[in-house]
Amino acid sequence: MEVISKTNKLKAVLRKARCAGLEIGFVPTMGALHDGHLALVQRAREIADLVVVSIFVNPVQFGPHEDYERYPRNLSHDVELLTRLGVDYVFAPGVDEIYPTGFDTFVDVKELTTPLCGRKRPGHFRGVATVVAKLFSIIQPMYAFFGQKDAQQVIIIQKMTADLDFPVDIRICPIVRETDGLAMSSRNQYLSPAERAAAPVLYRSLRRAAGMILEGERNAATIRQGIEQELAREPLVQPEYVEIVDTEKLAPQDKIRGETLIALAATLGPTRLIDNLLVSVP
Ligand code: PAJ
Repeated sequence: MEVISKTNKLKAVLRKARCAGLEIGFVPTMGALHDGHLALVQRAREIADLVVVSIFVNPVQFGPHEDYERYPRNLSHDVELLTRLGVDYVFAPGVDEIYPTGFDTFVDVKELTTPLCGRKRPGHFRGVATVVAKLFSIIQPMYAFFGQKDAQQVIIIQKMTADLDFPVDIRICPIVRETDGLAMSSRNQYLSPAERAAAPVLYRSLRRAAGMILEGERNAATIRQGIEQELAREPLVQPEYVEIVDTEKLAPQDKIRGETLIALAATLGPTRLIDNLLVSVP
């Protein structure tokens, strides 16, 4: 496995690979890798001939008061994990490589970026879409792999890919969880022991929603109430939003029908966590 930090070098290497007929699979990440990331890499390894993983903590997707500076960074450990999985190239550029002086072009997926996480994180998805568009242009993958953990991000990337005609096949992988149900996240390491013990309530509240739906409940307000009641059992958890939306427009639903996304965000002390459940009701 080779770690490449220069865009031109990576482009040259991958141009050759494409000419040789190899299909490139790409997994974008911000590093601090856990089993959720590694599941995407394994999927890429199964499907593609050549696997590229990017590790780049993207400054433009962090708000001014967010955790850009303290976001966990551990390149050597990440490289070790990726070597074991048989990754071909790690792209780990510096900020200047991606955003050289004078950089002034952004990708704005308009409507989908305003609800849910967009409300508290204005500009976040513009930063995500911009860096993913750039990475798609640099790497020109056949397949790109994203986690359902970031449900809104997935929908935005799919929309951007369609709208801008990127010839990339977007593959979505299920959420990988800790044994107590907490969705794996690089930010889980910020949690104090007490917060960590409280955090699985996010998933428990979604399970409660799933149980209600299984029993026949279809009223979104009632299901939302059930989730909020469950979350309220953990005083360390401050809910930010609980939303029941369709998966195309992310528009709020009164009744659960078709493919529906139940998404939530909550803070535990200074740490913001998200989780979601995708349900399909005939
Ligand atoms: P990051 O948070 O590092 O996540 C990289 C990829 O791993 C994303 O597609 C995310 O959804 C997926 N992922 C994270 N935790 C997961 C889990 N528990 N189960 C399954 N997949 C999981 O998302 C980003 O980075 C950035 O926004 C990025 C797309 C790289 C653009 O900067």
